Amino acid sequence: MSGLADLERDAAQHGWLVSPGFIDLHAHLREPGFEESETIATGARAALAGGFTTICAMPNTEPAIDSPGLVAEVIARGAAARAARVLPIAAITRGRLGKELADLVELAAAGAVAFSDDGAPVSDGQLFRNALEYARASGRPIFEHSQDLALTADGVMHEGVVSARLGLPGMAAAAEETAIARDLSLARLAGGRLHLSHVSTAGGVELVRRAKSDGLAITAEVTPHHLALTDEWVAGSRAFAWEDGGDRATPYETSTKVNPPLRTASDVRACWAGLMDGTIDAIATDHAPHASTRKDVEFQEAAFGISGFETAVPLLLAGVAAGWGTWDRVVEALTTGPARVLGITLPENDRVVIDPNAAWTCDAAALVSLGKNTPLLGRALIGRVVACAVDGELRFDLTRIAAS
Ligand code: DOR
Repeated sequence: MSGLADLERDAAQHGWLVSPGFIDLHAHLREPGFEESETIATGARAALAGGFTTICAMPNTEPAIDSPGLVAEVIARGAAARAARVLPIAAITRGRLGKELADLVELAAAGAVAFSDDGAPVSDGQLFRNALEYARASGRPIFEHSQDLALTADGVMHEGVVSARLGLPGMAAAAEETAIARDLSLARLAGGRLHLSHVSTAGGVELVRRAKSDGLAITAEVTPHHLALTDEWVAGSRAFAWEDGGDRATPYETSTKVNPPLRTASDVRACWAGLMDGTIDAIATDHAPHASTRKDVEFQEAAFGISGFETAVPLLLAGVAAGWGTWDRVVEALTTGPARVLGITLPENDRVVIDPNAAWTCDAAALVSLGKNTPLLGRALIGRVVACAVDGELRFDLTRIAAS
């Protein structure tokens, strides 16, 4: 394969799916500071293997991306990687410490496409109100990680019957729902564009639905893992939310530890319903790669996060095959939906080509990301990205990789 025309011709011959390149609003690339988990270059290449031609890099690095110089550095390293287009998200507060606002207007001028302290909420309500006001002046959205930290305290998984059975401290759905309620209230007061990251609960989806029907200009995303996996995975189940029984793994696998936590099957159902009726605007991976040193420890000690770029397509195809959603709506939530959140038009010459029937095993060697921390490791999956073009240039070609 070479140019865009060849790519589309080959795809048509094989009966593969072709769509505009996917845009991921939520990715952790770990550089600077945690390069053993991922770098901007490895992350941008892994994104292409997942179909994402544009990715937004979260600022929870060390140091945090909270100055115009660091924003410029992320842009430069992203461009140098010549893989997925990397758009920097800057921190809302200096050092992501939740105490003092960063210079949002200057950060936007340097190229930040949004602001977030992701990994942590902005707990101080007055500071969050100010952030929304400055974000409005900067013309960029706030991506908020909605979580009441006092309620989640030492929690390591969703609070419910499974956490009780496993004896693990839980994170109640209410910790997300009360935080979303506060965030919506402050968006109503301050104006500014609020985007809610990784909504994972039925109650959270319902709050967004009601706020939108009241005319509030907010947007929200869900992750592929919250559209497929349940809290039973922490106990060893490997059945998707729409399946019964199936294989089992050992319980307490740290690859299932993620924040927000994997929820119940009815939360998964509600996330799909919200996606289908337009309550949810975007599917974002929350790609959170971690080096094995941060995951090969006891469940309570392990880092939160799932390496998500490369398994998004098979998870979403499985949900569609189960009848929980439609592929057309999934594609919208991976393309026009996130573009609208960012206030950009879709890059005209980005494409992703997917073989919806390709069977492959998600083993460590198959993953481009340095982060092998997915509970899907070792599992046979259906559906794979075959090629991606960015600005008309073929930058990912699985057939070539397979041949080499
Ligand atoms: O599971 C998560 N991992 N949730 C977050 O909010 C942060 C992320 C990370 O940076 O690892």
